[in-house]
Amino acid sequence: DFIYSIRGIHELERELRDCLHIKEVIVVPGNLDNENYVLADIAKATSELMNKLIKNKDIIGITGGTTMAAVAEGMEQQNKDKNITVVPARGGLGRRLESQSNIVAAKLAEKLKGNYQMLHASDTLSQEILQSILEDPEIKKIIELIKKVNLLIFGIGRAEDMANRRELPQDVVEGLMKDGAVAEAFGFYFNLAGEVTYEMKTIGIQFADFIKIPNVIGVAGGARKAQAIYAISKLKKDMILVTDEGATREILKLY
Ligand code: F6P
Repeated sequence: DFIYSIRGIHELERELRDCLHIKEVIVVPGNLDNENYVLADIAKATSELMNKLIKNKDIIGITGGTTMAAVAEGMEQQNKDKNITVVPARGGLGRRLESQSNIVAAKLAEKLKGNYQMLHASDTLSQEILQSILEDPEIKKIIELIKKVNLLIFGIGRAEDMANRRELPQDVVEGLMKDGAVAEAFGFYFNLAGEVTYEMKTIGIQFADFIKIPNVIGVAGGARKAQAIYAISKLKKDMILVTDEGATREILKLY
């Protein structure tokens, strides 16, 4: 019955937290791989958590992807101006879909009655052009802001899926797989031990910045992402994970 299933979920949260050794885990019922409604429940759980954590003048970073889009969409409209700024965590990570991180950031800012900054940079830039872009005063301002992010909400993807979504060259994809990459988050690819194996050349949050952010929420559901979630939880012990029952049961089965 209902009470039993809520208890069951709390039990799963405890088990997963102990398995991943991270600060907090929130699990919603269902498996996103099979049931679409789970995405809205993950988004709702995430936005409720954010509402508890958000303070006046916070600088919030958010990534792109369908999960983050759902989080921004599912956020309740606030009517008090808390002087919040939202920034996309990293610029131009993909070819099409992912310039979405700008749209997601704008949407979240609107819901939080805050301001937002856009980050325009493509991932196909050469190292030289990237360097010169970093000299641009507008970009510099945003980079400074990104370094001050105190709450980051990010999506977690399977390395292979993300490499394909981003249409990385075949030799890069093969290299990634050979290096054992299983997870992707904010432009970095990681192996199961949580070590960086590849990085997209773009501007925005760097790995060293990520480690120092006080509040970090990773969000991902679906049993297919079990390995990816496991890898990402190696990065930062004080992170909070929002996931679903499908991913949770798979992680507990594997590890
Ligand atoms: O591209 C942005 C991003 O947050 C990636 O860093 C992450 O791997 C992916 O999206 C997750 O996408 P989705 O929520 O669509 O599975």
